[in-house]
Order: sequence, then structure tokens, then C-alpha cells
Amino acid sequence: MPSRSRPARLVVLVSGSGTNLQALLDACADEAYGARVVAVGADRSDIEGLRRADRAGVPTFVKRVGDYANRDDWDRVLTRSVAAFEPDIVVLAGFMKLVGPAFMAEFGGRTVNTHPALSPSFPGMSGPADALAYGVKVSGCTLFVVDEGVDTGPIVAQTAVPVLDDDDVDSLHERIKVAERAMLTENVGRMAREGFTITDRKVRFNR
Ligand code: GRF
Repeated sequence: MPSRSRPARLVVLVSGSGTNLQALLDACADEAYGARVVAVGADRSDIEGLRRADRAGVPTFVKRVGDYANRDDWDRVLTRSVAAFEPDIVVLAGFMKLVGPAFMAEFGGRTVNTHPALSPSFPGMSGPADALAYGVKVSGCTLFVVDEGVDTGPIVAQTAVPVLDDDDVDSLHERIKVAERAMLTENVGRMAREGFTITDRKVRFNR
């Protein structure tokens, strides 16, 4: 993806509290950041992530898997909804669904996701719990370019955090989320301002 002279258009997809979305909204308030959130989508209604978008005056849409005959139909509708906002980059920020083939055909190579573990360890829905159960001393977060797998795409950035003896899942996840928000805003900003290339899984910014 090349660098550009106008701010990059971000569409952000969320499923929950939206603290990562909020970090992006806050970063985009500075014109020098080089990006703006043009829409927020979700796979469920009545979540704080959508309320954060509303408060920021950003348009929202909700596409629930259960409202469609099958997963592929949902994927096509989600793809069309995102495409309507003409994003340069799509950010999955705590979006708890796998996107499908239609979505990948349209937005593959310019969709990033954030995962609360150090890939390739502990992929899937319960990264912090799995890391804790395994007994690792260090965990963290991974920003990656989405591919067809589960948390397997080319890695844009990673940040490590310690696992403390008295951690439970919530305290570890909260520590990870602080690091995750900084990782996300820093690197999405660079993707927007500098552009990036992916060669043999290596993601590099076009400085
Ligand atoms: C993040 O840790 C994300 O990686 C995980 O769920 C959390 C979402 O947090 N999949 P929020 O909705 O951005 O607050």
C-alpha cells in the first residue's frame, strides 16, 4: 500500500467495549496522525463500541450473522457495508468474528487485526486465559495483516508484557490491552502515513 497525501480512511469493526476503537478515535483527532475513522461496524448491537462511535459522530452499521441464511451471505453483506465507506485500511479492533472469502477478496492485504497474545502462541478467542494456563512469564499483543487463518497473518508489530504471579485473566488482559492500544495507534498511523509492503510474510513500512 503506497503512502498518500490525504488522510487514510479507516473503517473499524468492533464487538465489545471498543477501547481500541477509542484509542484510534483519539489519535485521529490530531490531523498529523494521517488517518480518520469514517465508519464503525459491528456484529452485534447495544455495545459500548457503537456508543463510542456515536459520541464521536462517526456513522455505524450492525450486521449480525444470525440475521442471514448462512455465513457467506453475512460475509457478502458485511463486505458491501464496509466497501460503501471506501476504506484504505480496515481495522478489526476486538471484532469477534472471522471474516470470509468475499471480505478477503475486497480487503485482503489492507485489513489488520489485533490479538491479545504473542503470535504464533495462543491463537483464538482466549489468548490471555491460554497464556495464563500455560504458565508463560511473558505475553503481549500482536498486530497482524488478516489472512484466511485464525490469527496467522503477517505480523506488523508486537509488544510484550510481563505475566505476574498473582495475575488472573482479567488483570493480565487489562495489562495487555494498555500495550495493545499503544501498539495499534502507533502502527496504524504509520501504515496510513508511510504505506507498507508485505514480502514473504515480512511487513515493512515504506519510510
Ligand atoms: C482486545 O484485547 C482484543 O485484542 C480482543 O478483545 C479485546 C477488545 O477490547 N480480541 P476492546 O473492545 O477494544 O476494548
